[in-house]
Amino acid sequence: MIVFGIETSCDETAAAVVADDRRLLANVVLSQLDDHRPYGGVVPEIAARSHLEAVDAVAAEALRRAGVGFADLDGIAVTGGPGLIGGVLVGVMTAKAFALVHGLPFVAVNHLEGHALTARLTDDVAFPYLLLLVSGGHCQLLIAEGVGRFTRLGTTIDDALGEAFDKSAKILGLGFPGGPAVEQAALQGDPQHFALPRPMKGRDDCHFSFSGLKTAVRQAVERLPGGRATPQDAADLCASFQAAAGDVLADRVARAAALFRAAHPEGSTLVVAGGVAANRYLRTRLDAAAAENGLKLVAPPIALCTDNGAMIAWAGLEHLRLGRRDSLDFRPRPRWPLDPDAPPVGYAGAKA
Ligand code: KG4
Ligand code: ZN
Repeated sequence: MIVFGIETSCDETAAAVVADDRRLLANVVLSQLDDHRPYGGVVPEIAARSHLEAVDAVAAEALRRAGVGFADLDGIAVTGGPGLIGGVLVGVMTAKAFALVHGLPFVAVNHLEGHALTARLTDDVAFPYLLLLVSGGHCQLLIAEGVGRFTRLGTTIDDALGEAFDKSAKILGLGFPGGPAVEQAALQGDPQHFALPRPMKGRDDCHFSFSGLKTAVRQAVERLPGGRATPQDAADLCASFQAAAGDVLADRVARAAALFRAAHPEGSTLVVAGGVAANRYLRTRLDAAAAENGLKLVAPPIALCTDNGAMIAWAGLEHLRLGRRDSLDFRPRPRWPLDPDAPPVGYAGAKA
């Protein structure tokens, strides 16, 4: 089985081809970072327009690199949500057109499930596994029980961790996207220099909160001479921020691991997924946290942590081989929780 996947839900126009023997035949990612940089964040209208301009060429390039044509494919997968709706629409319309014209099965993939199942493409991880999903829009702990089957243990009651990285970077004038910039700056910093809070640490549940951490970074800058961070201050703040985030993740993972092992004594794996999983410091911390709790950490290669088409093609393939497909009437979903039964947490605007 060979499946083609398209991802356009944020600021990467991406397409990929994967085979059911876990071969990644092509993975083309066109980043729009330069389009958004002047604005310090992703501008939805610009993203949608850029996806529209790029998607045909990116799709053609993925097929060319894979050395396959539409006749060789067994299905078309696309991110159907959640994400910036303009971009999702561009991908979904493109995928539907391919499916219709070439008479191929069409499957709409939950972007979060794309991240969640990547470790099955890269490392053949078996269900069930504990999953930490950390991206720009989400921060959740889930049990992955099967394709399309997730139980949410915890989520953030305010900001996602990637968002806190991005906002802290902005406060420190490190530019956009913030995650990689903070990671880079932290290499020259002292993680003990600034005492930042560890929000939610020690709590009985598995939830997160990162808005206070970002605020603490801002307040620390305001207390500096002239209210400005020197490059060394910025490096120290970045290192201190990462140390705080690492402590919180390790604590929340320990709590979730206990629940996971109670529910699934046979479970042995912690998977980390999403853009923040590209952070080397946090990967090291999570590796240790997993080991302390009797689990083995699986973290996909960094290029497959941030948004890409391979994760969508693979998740689509997993659904297709279970006989699932969507009709061409599928409507993009700006919100699409992995566990629709999870009770709401936090305030009304908290992320699902
Ligand atoms: O999964 P992703 O590419 O897009 C979403 O679905 O959100 O994640 C993007 C997020 C951004 O907040 C970005 O700053 C963060 O992942 N990120 C990182 C790193 N690389 C990307 N955060 C920390 N360290 C990194 N190296
Ligand atoms: Zn993502």
